[in-house]
Amino acid sequence: MEEAYAGITAPDLVSGGAQGIRCVTCGGPRAGGPVAAHMQDGVTMTVITPGKTVGQLLVEDPSRSRVFQKYGIDFCCGGNLTLADACRRRGLDLAPVVDALDRVRAEPFEGPDPAALSLTDLCDHIETTHHAWLKQELPRLSAMARKVSGVHGDAHPWTRELAATFDAFADDLDAHMEKEELVLFPVVRRLEAGTMAPLPMILSSPIAAMEHEHEEAGRALARMRELSRGFTPPDGGCQTFRALLHGLEQLERDMHLHVHKENNVLFPRVSALTL
Ligand SMILES: [Fe+2]
Ligand SMILES: [Fe+2]
Repeated sequence: MEEAYAGITAPDLVSGGAQGIRCVTCGGPRAGGPVAAHMQDGVTMTVITPGKTVGQLLVEDPSRSRVFQKYGIDFCCGGNLTLADACRRRGLDLAPVVDALDRVRAEPFEGPDPAALSLTDLCDHIETTHHAWLKQELPRLSAMARKVSGVHGDAHPWTRELAATFDAFADDLDAHMEKEELVLFPVVRRLEAGTMAPLPMILSSPIAAMEHEHEEAGRALARMRELSRGFTPPDGGCQTFRALLHGLEQLERDMHLHVHKENNVLFPRVSALTL
């Protein structure tokens, strides 16, 4: 599928082309299914195809994270799935997802485009935004999870597993961030500054370990979502209950962005430096 759209030219898009693609700017025909492209000043900017991976689509345009979040598509650990496979896994029709990805492009993306940052700036950005926020948020959520499970555990036994899952997740994440801040990111900065030789495979093991830990964090978040039925408070749930589930949903959203920046932007660029 992907190869079929390689080398698309502006005239193809405007006319609909042999592949049935339409130009989303001019609104031309798109008879060939859920494929969209962007044009600006007659130049193709991005093309959305079902064969592109979720991570690749997000690297091209970070604002697409909103669509993935809206449809519950995991774009961090699931970033290597094609859009078609990700939709299939979630039981989603492809066409509305592609249309939403198409429409979201006009909205401003909050925060810097990670693909436009230097490696050093990207490490700094991850530390000063995502890591700093997590260090404040994890203890707050942990206290609320324990309180909710203590008060509501009899009526809602799942809150006990939720609190235990959260605490294990938070402990693992603290250790994970420490490894990134004390080991991985300093090496990345030195490699980029040229003060460390880019020895082949120098970071392949630490990166693989970080990716594995991201997958474990993703599983814990998915379990918390499942236990709480999509972070939905029960009828009559107290404010702490509601605040906890709201906070967990925000945590999931931030973690998806955070891990996307590492898995899909930082790590591939670092690996390319040391190949
Ligand atoms: Fe991180
Ligand atoms: Fe990480």
